[in-house]
Amino acid sequence: MPNDVTHSQAGTTLEKADVTKSVTPGGRTEAAAAAVRIDDVAVRFRSKKRDVTALTDVSLDIASGEFVAIVGPSGCGKSTLLKLVAGLLGPSAGEVRLGDERVSGPRHDIGYVFQRAALLEWRSALRNILLQAEIRKLPAAESRARAGELIRMTGLEGFEEALPHELSGGMQQRVALCRALLHRPPVLLMDEPFGALDALTREQMNVELRRIWQETGTTVILVTHSISEAVYLADRVVVMSARPGTVSEIIDAGLPAERGYSETMARPEFGTATTRIRELLGAASAAD
Ligand SMILES: Nc1ncnc2c1ncn2[C@@H]1O[C@H](COP(=O)(O)OP(=O)(O)O)[C@@H](O)[C@H]1O
Ligand SMILES: [Mg+2]
Repeated sequence: MPNDVTHSQAGTTLEKADVTKSVTPGGRTEAAAAAVRIDDVAVRFRSKKRDVTALTDVSLDIASGEFVAIVGPSGCGKSTLLKLVAGLLGPSAGEVRLGDERVSGPRHDIGYVFQRAALLEWRSALRNILLQAEIRKLPAAESRARAGELIRMTGLEGFEEALPHELSGGMQQRVALCRALLHRPPVLLMDEPFGALDALTREQMNVELRRIWQETGTTVILVTHSISEAVYLADRVVVMSARPGTVSEIIDAGLPAERGYSETMARPEFGTATTRIRELLGAASAAD
């Protein structure tokens, strides 16, 4: 655990969001086993110059196979929350569980995708994907077969030997996604993965990500600044407050599982959900 994390006092003046009541209609969340359980977590960064409480009283249960999006103002602790789940950071209070286990150090059973694809420039697309297998010392033949499957799933066929600079931004993110999914992680964390893409590519990536999620059954936690992306992709959208970040509300738009892009945008439930999220975030920070 990094030593800049210290234990803070539990209990604050902020109201605690009761996520246990935020079960989706039909009780899906209740019925399925929690893949990720964030229980009353606080994170405080302490340095000589200042103390920052990044997160406080955060509780959230995510069901196995669920797609959860997190939106909130800059600096409210979204990336910090993902790092907690990945075990890259320890909570100052509370606990995080992945399945039956308490997260107490870096986890190898998750996938992580960041805003920048972070590909190795001298390696081909395929060899960037296979990097995951090399690091984890996974069997070569099986990893190649899985890489082939993911390349097909993400439409990268024909670009296996291309170098990163020969790929568009969207394709680079597809490579990063393949790399993150190579070891079949039960949980995929995505931190503003499409933030650097143009609007049209981003829409296309949204549609693809939804299909890939449906095909793989992976639990996904996606941090995004785009309200429409969050509502389109997720089963539930977690709206966070400004720092110190906490859960202000969890929105289930109640959209059908099959989601054509423009049809979904035109649905009244979609409009209701995006309007509510904009209200919660306040007009100033609701740039979409
Ligand atoms: N390692 C760190 N040391 C000190 N402060 C940090 C560290 N990481 C994040 N912070 C602070 O915690 C707050 C939340 O950061 P972050 O999780 O990156 O926010 P977000 O992803 O929502 O924009 C910010 O105020 C940030 O400056
Ligand atoms: Mg961030």
